[in-house]
Amino acid sequence: MALPSLFILLFLLGFAESQSFTHPFNRTDLQAAIGDMRAKSYYGFAMLLQMLNGTSQPTRDLTFLMPDDKELSASSISIYEVEEFLLKHAIPMPLYFNDLSHFPTGTLVPSGNSSKMIRIHNRGRGDFFVNNAQIVSANVCLNSMIKCHGVDAIIEYDN
Ligand SMILES: *[C@@H]1O[C@H](CO)[C@@H](O)[C@H](O)[C@H]1NC(C)=O
Ligand SMILES: *[C@@H]1O[C@H](CO)[C@@H](O)[C@H](O)[C@H]1NC(C)=O
Ligand SMILES: *[C@@H]1O[C@H](CO)[C@@H](O)[C@H](O)[C@H]1NC(C)=O
Repeated sequence: MALPSLFILLFLLGFAESQSFTHPFNRTDLQAAIGDMRAKSYYGFAMLLQMLNGTSQPTRDLTFLMPDDKELSASSISIYEVEEFLLKHAIPMPLYFNDLSHFPTGTLVPSGNSSKMIRIHNRGRGDFFVNNAQIVSANVCLNSMIKCHGVDAIIEYDN
C-alpha cells in the first residue's frame, strides 16, 4: 500500500472508531436522506433503511452506497440480514463525491462493518469503483448530513 493511502486509512479509522450504527441518530436527518433517495427512484434502498426503524439506527455521519432497485430485487436479502446488508453499503463518515475523488486507487476505506474494507479504484468521475461496484449517480443525498451515491452492483467483499 502506498504511504499516502495508509495515512488516509488511519485518518478514516480514527473517525470510524467513534462512530457506530447503533448510536442515537437524528430521525429528521435520516428522513431527509430517504426523501432524496426516493426522489431519485432508489425506492428499494430507502425501504431497507425504513426497515431499520426501532432496531438499530444509523448516525448522521454516514455515506450510503446504493444499488438500484433492479440490482436489489435480483439479490436475496433475508429480513434478518437487512442491517448487515446496509452496513456493507455504508462508509462511517459523510463523504460527497468530491471527497471520495481525492482517494487514489488502492485506498482502503472502512465500511459500516469494521471487519470489512472497501477498496477504491479511482480513474475519475466516470470510472470510480468501490470494490466491484461503480458509482453511477453521485451526490444523491443533498438535504441531510447523511451522504449517498448510487452504485451499479451489490457490493461484494473478498472475505
Ligand atoms: C436534525 O437534523 C435537522 C436537519 O439536518 C436539523 O435541522 C436539526 O436541528 C437536527 N436536530 C438535532 C437534535 O440535531
Ligand atoms: C418508527 O418507530 C417510531 C418509534 O418506535 C414510531 O413512532 C414510528 O411510527 C416508526 N415509523 C415507521 C415508519 O415505522
Ligand atoms: C461483519 O462481517 C463479519 C464477517 O463477514 C460478520 O461475521 C459479522 O456478522 C458482520 N457484522 C455485522 C454487524 O454485520
